[in-house]
Amino acid sequence: MKVDLKSLVKKYDTPLYIYDFNAISDRYKELKKAFEGKKSLISYAVKANSNLAVIRTLAKNGAGADCVSIGEVNRALKAGIKPYKIIFSGVGKRDEEIREALEKGILLLNLESEAEMKRVELVANELKVKARISIRVNPNIDPKTHPYISTGLHENKFGVDINMAKRMYIYAHKSEHLNPIGIHFHIGSQITELEPIREASIIVSDLVRSLKAINIDIKFFDIGGGIGVVYDDEITINPKDYSDMIIETIKGLDVTIICEPGRYMLANAGIFVTKVLYEKMNESRRFVIVDGAMNDLIRPSLYNAYHKIEAFVDGSDDVTKADVVGPICESGDFFGKDIELPKLKHNDLIIIHSAGAYGFTMASNYNTRGRSAEVAILDGKDYIIRQRESFEDQIRLEEACDTSWQNRED
Ligand code: LLP
Repeated sequence: MKVDLKSLVKKYDTPLYIYDFNAISDRYKELKKAFEGKKSLISYAVKANSNLAVIRTLAKNGAGADCVSIGEVNRALKAGIKPYKIIFSGVGKRDEEIREALEKGILLLNLESEAEMKRVELVANELKVKARISIRVNPNIDPKTHPYISTGLHENKFGVDINMAKRMYIYAHKSEHLNPIGIHFHIGSQITELEPIREASIIVSDLVRSLKAINIDIKFFDIGGGIGVVYDDEITINPKDYSDMIIETIKGLDVTIICEPGRYMLANAGIFVTKVLYEKMNESRRFVIVDGAMNDLIRPSLYNAYHKIEAFVDGSDDVTKADVVGPICESGDFFGKDIELPKLKHNDLIIIHSAGAYGFTMASNYNTRGRSAEVAILDGKDYIIRQRESFEDQIRLEEACDTSWQNRED
């Protein structure tokens, strides 16, 4: 992404998220092309970055959406994604969320337990509709990624085992209010090897074959998300190898392949820019204190995730190791440790790379810090896509409450 960082910072200040919108479209097109010749739907996992402008761009390219709350479904709809391209997953959907999703006519409610299936059946009955459903199969496969983002093992809360899935399909097939037309698996995120996904796909496609044999016609084969990206020097999955592998495992099945990438679309298209406030040294460490913090980008603190850190200064040979830390009152508030950095001064800029996915969406107001602004770069021009959150924005819902009970003089 070619940007004049200094002038962007002058215009929008820091901390700041900047996204390359051309890169987002390119990633979509690359993945879609990999499935060329097959019926496919790329349903973007909105949780990775749910800014309306991001979703709108993907919608224009033809993407669908994978959502985990009715809020995400509504974001997808608002951004122009058609209901028939939206999937709603998640282990804990409230009745109201189920009702609204059914009313809005989304493509699939992806079910993660038998109890949930019964709730959906009840709500569909109330609405006098037949709910299109898929069932999330947990194939008990280790995706070899960070345990917090591993989801396809029986120790994880997600989906149902293969036997339960079959029983649920048989039940749903007989129900007047359920229409089982999809199957789903998602074994984890930031997966860099094809093999675990291949094993999962074999298990799940075998189930589809046995369901077809008893006249349960699965039309959508949803392979989840999870494609790993390069943060450092990872060798990761290539889209064409990925699609070839999937197509091989579903040989003979007439299905539409659904894929739910989040990180793949956004991670490398975004950077997080922060300003140096101070440097400080003690006898053992050098700290570079910046104005961004774990409330803006929590991945290093939460998963010990690596993000490349670069000082945006004119070349200096005088490089030493430093911890890059934020102003929050927690030792876990860091972006990187032992990072080689040149001498820095007040207001020098630091770039945290690959911050486009699970960056802003996981931001919070911890320490009453307003969330950062977000900027899109398209064809070399910059556009603000989310304003910086003010103090007033943060207290609005508290101010809206009646506080007279606190002013009593007893
Ligand atoms: N589909 C389902 C059902 C999911 O649960 C997820 C991610 C995706 C698709 C998209 O996965 P992706 O293509 O982005 O790997 N906050 C963590 C990542 C959590 C992922 C949760 N589910 C992180 O920052 O690494």
